[in-house]
Amino acid sequence: MQITSFKQYEEDYKKSVENPEQFWGEVAQNFQWRKPWFKVLSWNFSEPNIKWFEGAKLNITENCLDRHLAANGDKPAIIWEPNNPEEESVTLTYKMLHERVCRFANILKRNGAKKGDRICIYMPMVPELAIAVLACARIGAVHSVVFGGFSAKSIADRINDAQCKLVITADGAYRGNKQIPLKEVIDDALIGCPTVEKCIVLTHIRTPVSMLKGRDVWWEDEVKHVNDICEAEEMDAEDMLFILYTSGSTGKPKGVVHTCGGYMVYAGYTFSNVFNYQPGEVYFCTADIGWITGHSYIVYGPLSQGATSVLFEGIPTYPTPSRFWDIVEKHKVNTLYTAPTAIRSLMSFGDEPLNGKNLSSIRVLGSVGEPINEEAWHWFDEKIGHGKAPIVDTWWQTETGGIMISPIAAVTPTKPSFATLPLPGIQPILVDENGKEIEGNGVMGNLCIKFPWPGMLRTTYGDHERCKQTYFSTYEDLYFTGDGCLRDEDGYYRITGRVDDVLNVSGHRIGTAEVENAINMHAGVVESAVVGYPHDVKGQGIYAFVIYPEMHGEAELSKKDILQTVTRVIGAIAKPDKILFVSGLPKTRSGKIMRRILRKIAEGETSNLGDTSTLLDPGVVEEIIEASKNL
Ligand code: WTA
Repeated sequence: MQITSFKQYEEDYKKSVENPEQFWGEVAQNFQWRKPWFKVLSWNFSEPNIKWFEGAKLNITENCLDRHLAANGDKPAIIWEPNNPEEESVTLTYKMLHERVCRFANILKRNGAKKGDRICIYMPMVPELAIAVLACARIGAVHSVVFGGFSAKSIADRINDAQCKLVITADGAYRGNKQIPLKEVIDDALIGCPTVEKCIVLTHIRTPVSMLKGRDVWWEDEVKHVNDICEAEEMDAEDMLFILYTSGSTGKPKGVVHTCGGYMVYAGYTFSNVFNYQPGEVYFCTADIGWITGHSYIVYGPLSQGATSVLFEGIPTYPTPSRFWDIVEKHKVNTLYTAPTAIRSLMSFGDEPLNGKNLSSIRVLGSVGEPINEEAWHWFDEKIGHGKAPIVDTWWQTETGGIMISPIAAVTPTKPSFATLPLPGIQPILVDENGKEIEGNGVMGNLCIKFPWPGMLRTTYGDHERCKQTYFSTYEDLYFTGDGCLRDEDGYYRITGRVDDVLNVSGHRIGTAEVENAINMHAGVVESAVVGYPHDVKGQGIYAFVIYPEMHGEAELSKKDILQTVTRVIGAIAKPDKILFVSGLPKTRSGKIMRRILRKIAEGETSNLGDTSTLLDPGVVEEIIEASKNL
């Protein structure tokens, strides 16, 4: 199923469009099924109702573990690199990983988990996180991994939305020179989570934690009570595999639902092709398993292909900005898949951290999460790839399950800052505001997808209508991505960024409405409006305009109070970079905030604000512009 020439890509693409069922049916033969499907695809985008590989039975962990044991059992599956480089790294072979997953699956069962139950995972980037994820899949429980940077309230919202029965966590996490008390955060969250019966706690940093009798158990104690034999639960192709919460332009984060069969095929197929993975190579994706990139391209994609996946606990700048390069050298990494924000941050340290580092093992480079600017692309290409490693700029989303538009390494000619061409099976279309197709090349529009692919979301947990409204109602019979896009003269795609009220801060998706809600929860705040602005390292920064008439003490302190509130409500990742106190917001006569104007002011553009004739009170704009100059 690996594409090895551009001609083959073109042929496969053509086939995938002309006869999608045959195409995906053949791809799916490369995986292990307990029972075959009777129908490859049935679908409509109006409900939406999408089913892939109907009738097929499988367990994704048999594809990620069991099927590699005979020939590759002693091959490394996971290489764990700890936060502190002085500590030993850990290698788990496929055999060892299989054994540990089975053990932990038995621990889950011992603690009452069964097929269909939802389990929240809030853990550091340690091998046990991958083990916990796979153990859920082994017994047919649905995992909902929550990134370690979210607050107790965010966790509680997610646990309650999914009605989770169990939580898996650790005492704490290391992040550079900081320690994060994960269990303490979970304890706060669980005060408001009546559905949670058990909490399994891994010892990692060995910080003191409270352990509630009857609810909390230690991972290490539980291990003593189980063996390593655990038959995989037989799952239907369309049974739920996991829920992953992601931000949109309105309301609370949505639980994006992925199912077993289609997701497995898509994650495995795209991993193998996009990175042109070769047996024996070491692959390093720097994402966190708390996000979709970690799900698809640290755990499921690589392991389904028998690859060696590096799992890194720390951050790119600890203890020095050479850390990534040290890891590449130490583990002889062949593929490095990271985010533009990390590249820009490392770039800012100049060439010094690269001195004396042996990066000759690198064969393929990857970028994900946000548009990569040309400067960062060239730096990555020259300094890290030495002009010899193709860069795959991979565009995709939590909802798409896997990479959608991307070069295929060593096959597709690349172009800086272009995600290039759709993968086989993916049919992108650009539309104007009214949903009319924009044909031809050298055009821009809103990016939609007009045909299903196996890895696409099936619903949003507990609220199918919301799934329909968010993705399938903006334009009839199309999946709407929320991204703007350019298609150049060569038919190459370049993603220009979100066209809705979603920000992309350091590759993290954050809804402006969510941040506004959090700020508005601060006592004394009357109203706020949040927009993004260009940020050198983060891609986008968060700019908040806040009405706070009777401040408690000095303005600077009040800003810190607001940051504290946002940290409590959402988590530190959503903290505004800039807060401007204002006496009013620019509104239309019907009371709508004119974000367009605020965006311009946040970008530093103060003269050319466009049409302001519908403003209720133009004076407010003058005042905001003046105040913004002093921020
Ligand atoms: C953005 C991350 C430009 C885009 C996998 C998308 C990108 C959102 C790229 C999804 C890229 C992701 N070039 N923009 N290569 N990759 N994006 O759900 O706006 O965390 O809609 O999934 O990130 O973010 P999410």
